[in-house]
Amino acid sequence: MLVGTSAAAGCAPTNKILPAENFPAAAGKETMTERKDDRLWGGRFEREPNAQFDAFQRSFAFDRRLLPYEIAVDRAWANALEPIGIFTAAEVKQTLAALDKIAERAKTDSAWLESFGATAEDVHHFVEKALVEELGPLGWKLHTGRSRNELVTTDFRLFVIDAAAEIQRGVEALLNAFLMQAKANLGVPMAGMTHMQHAQPILLSHFLLAHAEAFTRDMTRLQHAAESADACPMGSGALAGNSFAIDRNAIARELGFSGITANSLDAVSDRDFALDYLFALSGIATHLSRLAEDFVIFASQEFSYVLLPDEYSTGSSLMPQKKNPDAWELIRGKTGRITGALVSLLTTLKGLPTSYQRDLQEDKEALFAAHDQIEEMVWVAMGAIAATKFNAERLRATATNPVLFATDAADYLVHKGVPFRQAHDLVGKVLREAERQGKSWTHLSLEDVQKISHFFEKDFLEGPSVEDVIANKIVPGGTAPECVRAAIAILQNRLNKRTTKRGA
Ligand code: ARG
Repeated sequence: MLVGTSAAAGCAPTNKILPAENFPAAAGKETMTERKDDRLWGGRFEREPNAQFDAFQRSFAFDRRLLPYEIAVDRAWANALEPIGIFTAAEVKQTLAALDKIAERAKTDSAWLESFGATAEDVHHFVEKALVEELGPLGWKLHTGRSRNELVTTDFRLFVIDAAAEIQRGVEALLNAFLMQAKANLGVPMAGMTHMQHAQPILLSHFLLAHAEAFTRDMTRLQHAAESADACPMGSGALAGNSFAIDRNAIARELGFSGITANSLDAVSDRDFALDYLFALSGIATHLSRLAEDFVIFASQEFSYVLLPDEYSTGSSLMPQKKNPDAWELIRGKTGRITGALVSLLTTLKGLPTSYQRDLQEDKEALFAAHDQIEEMVWVAMGAIAATKFNAERLRATATNPVLFATDAADYLVHKGVPFRQAHDLVGKVLREAERQGKSWTHLSLEDVQKISHFFEKDFLEGPSVEDVIANKIVPGGTAPECVRAAIAILQNRLNKRTTKRGA
């Protein structure tokens, strides 16, 4: 007998309402008396599972975190069972009320939830057990036509969508901290470095905004991860689809998805949304780690660019003078866990046959842990950035060493028509002479430099000021104060837009 399918209407479900007597409520009662235990799958087994294996295969200890999503999916499923005649209106009502009660009790009564620890295989089994406790055999009807394979990935998608939004709020707060510091320190020059060697002067604000750019890209990656998760698998069944013509779009709509997944077999095996999320988190971790490294170095006595905030530092049990940048070191250190989680899932997925495999149960723990870690890392970094005091005098001192103006000295010759490569070479010779005499190149005599090139005139030895050197970098994205002010306005604008969007 074909139930609720339509060959004529292409892939559109018939939504034919089946007579209630097709699904007599009493059927549940008979099976209940026959059942050995309340497993979801005990019927064809003669013997109980080995106790060690049984504990090994359960996931309730960690997937119970998905309970709010499981309940939401259950509610949508219950509603969808009515138009196709599996549930009467009264049964839907009873089921929804029971689901609400279970959700509430799980929130407030942890002992009750714990009491399922030894018996519920996973969060899906837990809800069914709790439903049967509440409703009797009616509780066994909700799973009609569906599989845990579609449930678990639907729950997980909903989790990732919320999780990405949560981390976006943290990254946004971090961006605000950078913005605040970039504004407060506008005008402070510092020695910009490449290869950890003094290179050219830049504004401290430019340095801070460089970090803000990286975290802005992370916001986009988080958004992308949420978008990959935004399709509802319900109706995919265990792998093949649903034989009751369930209205997949109605379920997706109720759950807030923008659409449904396209292929049932792919839907139960796809964890790309989880990979995308872990990749976004790995990006954040990598950026945080780089930021941490900068600040650990800046806090060293040799640099003394920043004053470590007491609130984000710890001391030594032995050396009374110590103040250590532990917040930054731990952020740097925890990065390994996040990239580890990404590699862990990639490795789990590699070589799996198409379709649901139990290996996929391994997708959750590492992602939950990575999410929790990033959440803490981002907020601690935000607090540490906001509380950091910059040593403006020290930063300025590093930026005003004329050796950092060597490129500008070569540009001086370029303005006189000397080809750049030659100018580079001539200034190199000036610097070598200055090093030989043990003084700054600006303190050489006119004679000394004219021996190297007659293009050097008296004004050459005055050297440019750090302000001039920085102001000359007047291109979009450059470190000239006007450009940095424009960059601050752009960041401010982006953050304002997000706030308005959230408020709307
Ligand atoms: N706990 C399982 C998971 O996390 C749920 C799906 C189990 N499906 C199954 N056929 N055993 O993936």
